[in-house]
Amino acid sequence: MCGIVGGIGKADFRNFVISGLKKLDYRGYDSAGIAYLLDGEITVVKTAGTVEMLDEKVSAFQGASMAIGHTRWATHGDPSEVNAHPQWSEHKLVYLVHNGVIENFRALKTRLKARGYRFLSKTDTEIIADLLEFHFESNGRIFLKALEETMDDLEGSYALAIMVSGDERLYFAKKGSPLLLGSGDGAAFLASDCVPMMGITKRFVDLNDGDYGYLEPERIALFNSGRQIRPVFSERKIEDFDYDLRGYPHFMLKEIEEEPQVLSRLVDNYFDPETGDYLFDKSMLRAIREADEIIFLACGTSHYASLFGVSFMEFMGKPARSYVASEWAYHPVCLSKRPLYILISQSGETADLIACQKIINSEGRPNLAVVNVKDSSLARRATYFCLVYAGLEVAVAATKSYIAQVGLLALLLGALTGSSSPVRHIEGLIGGINDIIARKGEIENLAEKVYQSRDAFFVGRGDSFKAALECSLKLKEISYIHAEAYPGGEIKHGPIALIEENTPVVGLISDGATALPLRNNIEELSSRKAATYIVAPASLSAKGDAFVTKDIKPYLQSLLNVVFGQYLAYYVSLKKGLPIDKPRNLAKSVTVE
Ligand code: M6R
Repeated sequence: MCGIVGGIGKADFRNFVISGLKKLDYRGYDSAGIAYLLDGEITVVKTAGTVEMLDEKVSAFQGASMAIGHTRWATHGDPSEVNAHPQWSEHKLVYLVHNGVIENFRALKTRLKARGYRFLSKTDTEIIADLLEFHFESNGRIFLKALEETMDDLEGSYALAIMVSGDERLYFAKKGSPLLLGSGDGAAFLASDCVPMMGITKRFVDLNDGDYGYLEPERIALFNSGRQIRPVFSERKIEDFDYDLRGYPHFMLKEIEEEPQVLSRLVDNYFDPETGDYLFDKSMLRAIREADEIIFLACGTSHYASLFGVSFMEFMGKPARSYVASEWAYHPVCLSKRPLYILISQSGETADLIACQKIINSEGRPNLAVVNVKDSSLARRATYFCLVYAGLEVAVAATKSYIAQVGLLALLLGALTGSSSPVRHIEGLIGGINDIIARKGEIENLAEKVYQSRDAFFVGRGDSFKAALECSLKLKEISYIHAEAYPGGEIKHGPIALIEENTPVVGLISDGATALPLRNNIEELSSRKAATYIVAPASLSAKGDAFVTKDIKPYLQSLLNVVFGQYLAYYVSLKKGLPIDKPRNLAKSVTVE
């Protein structure tokens, strides 16, 4: 994964790199580093820690003419200072930062070792620096050519920003990992996404795989496959990138509480109340109608959102399935003749999903990307795309984007069936979420009972099992409590053996048909001394329930269970004093397979 930034020309590069890396640390935050060119000399500072720690370590400097920076999510080599980027070449000709994974690095390392190169780090990145140096020394010292030759050698993914001793250009290359260029006033920039460059420039160039070249203060030289190409500029609006906590202690809390507003925005963007028409691309709706099967692909929270998509499609009589992207990519099963794929991803950059999209595109099949980032890789390569308008989501734990994804799928159902009811039902959902926000103190009290547990279980049936999956993912990722989700009826087929005295079990009720059997399942667990907590809508609630939600339309009801679970995870993590927005070992955008 990892985030990279770089720039050349007239700018405050200390500030640009450090603040840019802070904005990119959703891509990983286990070590960080900077290299800058000042008075003809390249200085490198690295830390086996966060960007905040790097900030403390880098002395004040001004007048640098070029800089690159990196925040890392370790793939090869532990998160130590020596493995942090920038990495440099044997003779300190090349300094570079890298996002991606070099698959053939062992073979390349052996080749380089045979030529006398020695390696300081355990990274797959250091070999790129050495390869560049090797080609440069072998080809008559033409760096652009060395870059082309190195790209030919590399298998895997990379976004690279490269500084070369004695060279006044900032080089770059991209394959598989995201990279954007920005053109400013007397300076040029690059970064893994546009956020570090917002406010400095409005003009961006989205790079394609195989693009490479160099930046000069007033010039972008772009190449692909040996030919120079003209950069295509696009604009981004600064208001789309709200990085302010707005008084909240954590982004996760802020983002949960933005959910009502996110749903309203979603409706505003996809429904015209004047005409009663949905505003989806008509050819996309036609393609979905004509498909004989809908295949959903996604990872993590987005996968759990896609489970609602399956139910919605089945409701309208359309066969549908959902697969975890990393599984489907290696077993791309499709039993229908005219499938349409729906790829769901908050970031639009998830490598496992991009791997699926490559397969789908190579077969010429239609695919719809449901994303939260307009210019993301998935959106750009999809046949159709829909934005979920959740706004920038900073916390690693996805919250508002999940609600927006399911909201979008509900609106899509409305558009496909010609019914405006989902719009009204989403208004009900907004009311239900606002009610939970107003009563979050009750969930905080419940967290007090749970936060010291080693294990926790979420149990549901039907839609509330889908909610249970998401609640358990939220709890485990930010509180580090081992959490599992089971369908109520399955518990006694094995998992019940795990129940000990006081093991917390949260029973999630969302519909009348399964309420009673689920209560029976929870009762069975209470009899084994589990500490059980039931969450139910008002009309299905009973005395002693731990939390009661508003009654809303049954097919959206279990989303209120999820909002409950989001708060529970938040407060448990808070009580444990954990880094809520940046849990250990995780990154917001998972750009390695
Ligand atoms: O950006 P994506 O929606 O494709 O990300 C998928 C998962 O990596 C993501 O949902 C992950 O599970 C989150 N940490 C969940 O909170």
